[in-house]
Amino acid sequence: MNIAVFVSGNGSNLQAIIDAASKGAAPYKVALVVSDRADAYALKRASAAGIGTLVADPKKYASREEYDRAVTEALEKKDIGLIVLAGFMRLVSPFFVRKYKHRIINIHPSLLPSFKGTRGIRDAYDYGVKITGVTVHFVDEELDHGPIILQGAVTVEENDTAESLEEKIHKLEHKLYPEAVRLFALGKLEIKARHVSVKK
Ligand code: GRF
Repeated sequence: MNIAVFVSGNGSNLQAIIDAASKGAAPYKVALVVSDRADAYALKRASAAGIGTLVADPKKYASREEYDRAVTEALEKKDIGLIVLAGFMRLVSPFFVRKYKHRIINIHPSLLPSFKGTRGIRDAYDYGVKITGVTVHFVDEELDHGPIILQGAVTVEENDTAESLEEKIHKLEHKLYPEAVRLFALGKLEIKARHVSVKK
């Protein structure tokens, strides 16, 4: 299955997905990396791995939907079966969610539904939670909301700082995200309303 990874920044999750694929017979191929920012470090990672990139600058489009329609053209050319949002700092349009229903996934650095939004790690730390974690979920029309595919927990120790917690979270993300992509590409995810199960 050809997958597209959408990024805006560092791209460490993109890297984990590329690395996992290069290790063995992965059921997916990263066929395109899409960024809304020309200066995203993730684009360098894509080029280093020989993966095609598309930079789509939001300023050049009148609306979110026009943006997503332009990106969709590129996705269709590459026969993309799964869209993986990995630190992509834009909301996708209802058009895009409908077009790729249950074929867009996202990773969020907290145990949803707690600590939605762009500051998931810092908000959980500041709140003083003892356990936080990582969520991989399908994308629907609401922010950080769709059916949950995988979650993993991280314990906040007394000597943790926001920075050390961030490191732990990223480490777990880099395990969970490639695994979720693999399960999807193998056709093992079954969705019933909000419940996602993994077929044996
Ligand atoms: C990750 O923490 C992810 O959970 C969040 O954005 C961050 C992206 O990091 N959605 P990277 O660009 O993959 O390094």
